[in-house]
Amino acid sequence: MIDNQVLEAAERFAREFFAEDATGHDWHHMVRVRRTAERIAAQEGADQGIVALAALLHDADDRKISPDTSENLGNARAFLSAQGVSAADADAVLTAIREVSFSKNGDAQPSTLEAACVRDADRLDAIGAIGIARAFAYGGAHGRALHDPDGIDGAATTAHFHEKLLKLKDMMCTDAGRQLAEARDAVTRAYLEEFLLEWSGGR
Ligand code: ADP
Ligand code: NI
Repeated sequence: MIDNQVLEAAERFAREFFAEDATGHDWHHMVRVRRTAERIAAQEGADQGIVALAALLHDADDRKISPDTSENLGNARAFLSAQGVSAADADAVLTAIREVSFSKNGDAQPSTLEAACVRDADRLDAIGAIGIARAFAYGGAHGRALHDPDGIDGAATTAHFHEKLLKLKDMMCTDAGRQLAEARDAVTRAYLEEFLLEWSGGR
């Protein structure tokens, strides 16, 4: 059972920790992932407190942000311990955080329902209108081209759509996630089609 006080402390922690981020891991990403994860958890019958806490902390040990703690989840671990979260709850939260990562886990199924909820919510934030905005924001922050019509520049942002974003709908782990992914995936595909049409002078 996760106390409200702990969730409020996690909000404060995340707001401060992610204040400066320009790689798509800003504070608002944590808020959106939490909201979506709670929605999925309600439909799937997962533990809301574990899901909310894991969502708020899920990027605190991301390799891009904190390479030194990405293996042992040191930042999340330190927060949970400072808050006096029980060992069982802390384990559940850390498992969910560990199993969110796309690069680390690929297609492997999450081992708990709570992990599945947070993973689906994180992936949903990478598609649809917001996901598209995040992809171009990430590309801009890294000085990348919007698109390469010759398909040679694999770092162009549209390449990321093919490498990752268009695959996410079929990688959802929960029924609720699959339902939410439908509309977002349709938006992503329609957007890409329109983008290419305008690029080629067809519109
Ligand atoms: P998270 O850890 O939240 O799952 P990532 O670290 O994988 O997300 O990426 C953060 C955001 O940046 C996501 O919206 C993702 O689609 C976007 N992103 C990551 N890599 C690229 C890239 N090479 N080009 C464009 N966008 C990217
Ligand atoms: Ni994330």
